[in-house]
Parts: sequence; structure tokens; C-alpha cells
Amino acid sequence: MPNAKIIGSGGYLPPRVVTNDALAADLATRQIETSDAWITERTGIRQRHIADPGVTTSQLATHAARQALADAGIEADALDLIIVATSTPDFIFPSTACLVQAQLGNKGAAAFDVQAVCSGFVYALATADSFIRAGRATTALVIGAEVFSGILDWNDRSTCVLFGDGAGAVVLQASDEPGILEAQLNADGSQMKILHAAGNVVHGKVTGDPFLRMDGQAVFKLAVTSLAESAKTVCARAGVSLQDIDWMVPHQANVRIINFLGRKLGMPEEKVVVTVDQHANTSAASVPLAFDAARRDGRIKSGDLVLMQGVGGGFTWGSVLARI
Ligand SMILES: CC(C)(COP(=O)(O)OP(=O)(O)OC[C@H]1O[C@@H](n2cnc3c(N)ncnc32)[C@H](O)[C@@H]1OP(=O)(O)O)[C@@H](O)C(=O)NCCC(=O)NCCS
Repeated sequence: MPNAKIIGSGGYLPPRVVTNDALAADLATRQIETSDAWITERTGIRQRHIADPGVTTSQLATHAARQALADAGIEADALDLIIVATSTPDFIFPSTACLVQAQLGNKGAAAFDVQAVCSGFVYALATADSFIRAGRATTALVIGAEVFSGILDWNDRSTCVLFGDGAGAVVLQASDEPGILEAQLNADGSQMKILHAAGNVVHGKVTGDPFLRMDGQAVFKLAVTSLAESAKTVCARAGVSLQDIDWMVPHQANVRIINFLGRKLGMPEEKVVVTVDQHANTSAASVPLAFDAARRDGRIKSGDLVLMQGVGGGFTWGSVLARI
């Protein structure tokens, strides 16, 4: 049975940077009060990238995909599987993965979206790993991409300050060398109300509430406990200890969640990749963007053991343990 090895990565952030101060000034024009001090202290977020009107998830995804393909040294026509994790697809259908496929000029690869909100990339990576291990694909492009700014209620200060837009991607290839060692995915649909965007389009009209709503404290607690448990489970299944991990790449929602999780697992801070200060929470894009940033600046190297973790709406969570 072949292993699935990460052979390239890429990331893309829309060029418009919105600092906390700029966001606070904008919200103040609508009598909504927030501040850089509040956002930084409660979340660690200092800025986010926001896509201009009309820019779509598939466009961000394609930028990240091109970078990942170049990094892997392969052409788009070598891909036989394309998975996009997103909660902000361009259309109801076709899938964003099909749109990316067309933009890359690939024909024939299986292409579909995965919807697991902020756990989406980890779900997609585990899915691609299973395809490769089963011999159903040899070269897979796995992308997490979001234009989350489009589903935020910009009059709700408890959510709109937390998120940003972006895309991250990896290329996986069948290999005899160790690659993805273990994965675990979980969900608890009974917790859907703590984080959701419960709207839809029916007969051409929006029904329900299409904006993201969240019980921040409930999400905070569940995120820390579920990710700590999941990290222990994948390590036990892979026969490695938490101390063997070179880099932890957790979902980038809030630096306090990341710090709590790191402490719960006894993970030294210098082994934890943090980009939430620069990117805010980019949902499905957060883990591949953080992974790519740490690979490009030379922290994550070939041979390193990396734990990637996602958590979010659904409620969903999961971990992937990979030898790079
Ligand atoms: C959202 C979050 C930052 C809020 O922090 P918190 O410490 O729980 O704050 P609370 O919700 O208790 O709110 C405290 C006060 O700050 C206020 N507040 C909320 N957002 C604010 C903002 N942007 N600026 C200023 N004040 C704000 C609240 O109205 C509340 O005021 P009150 O005490 O007068 O009622 C925190 O709960 C969190 O990060 N949760 C996890 C969210 C997450 O990561 N979601 C995505 C997971 S995929």
C-alpha cells in the first residue's frame, strides 16, 4: 500500500490588509465600538487580509494551487484528484474544485469539495490520503480556501473581527517513503448551534440567516478539549509520543486557544506554528497557510514530524500526522 507524501505547498492571501485599527475605525462609522487592544488581547489577531468585492474562493484557491504545483515541480495535468475544502464556494454548483480544475487547465481528475468548515482542510487531506493509499489516486491537490468576509455580519463585533480571507494548498503523491502516518476525523452534529451560518437559497430567495453566528465561549472550550484528545489519539495510533512531534500546526482561530492547547499537550511554544496574528481565522485555509508559511521560512523541513489540526462548525474536528 503506497504512502501519501506532501511534495509541495503554496499559499495566497488577497493583497488588501485590514489592521485592527482600520477595522475599528470602519466599525466606528456605524457606532460599533471595538479596539486594537480588545482584539489583540482576546484573540492575538493584529490584522487580516480581505478580498476585494467580486474576488472568489476559486480564484484564491487557484493562486495557492499554482504555487503548490510549482513547489512540487509538477504540471496540473499530472493531477488525478483535486479536493477543495471550503464553506464559501463560488456557486451552489459546480463545486469550487471543478472551477479550480478548469482554471488550472486540468481535465479528467476527480474534483469535489469538502464541507467541514474550519476542519475542512484536515478532512480533505485525510480523504486524499485514503484515495492514495487505496490506489484510487496517485497525485492529489488538496486546497483550503475561503472568502469568509462574505458570510460575516459586519455589524456584529463579536464575530466580524475574528476572520479573514485566503487559500493554502498542498500536493500529495503516492510514495514508498513515509508520508501521512495517521489521521482522525470527528464530528458532533448535536453542537451545530454553537457555530453556524444557517441560511440557504430556495426558489431564488435567501431563507434563514446566511451570516456566521457563534457562541464564542462554547466554541473555545470544545476546541481545546477536542483537539487535545484528538492529538493524543493520532499519536497513540501512529505509535509516536507527543514529544516526537517537531511542529504543531493547529487551526488558527485564536492565539489563546492555541496556547491552552499547547499547554494541555505539554508542547513547547517554539514548536507551535502561529499565523493567526497576521491572517486572523481563514477557516479551511488556516492550516495549509500556516503549514506553507513555516515550510517557506525554513522551520518545517524534510523529515520533520508535523501534527496538523482543524476544528470548527459542525461541530467538527480532526488531526493529521505527517512525516514531511
Ligand atoms: C469570541 C471571543 C474572542 C470572545 O472573547 P470572550 O473573552 O469570550 O468575550 P465575551 O464573549 O465574554 O465578551 C466579553 C465582552 O466583550 C464584548 N465584545 C465582544 N466582541 C467585542 C469586540 N470586537 N470589541 C470589543 N468588545 C467586544 C462583549 O460584548 C462583552 O461585553 P459585556 O461584558 O459588556 O457583555 C472568544 O470567546 C473566542 O475566541 N472564542 C472562540 C471563537 C473561535 O475561535 N471561533 C472559531 C472557531 S473555528
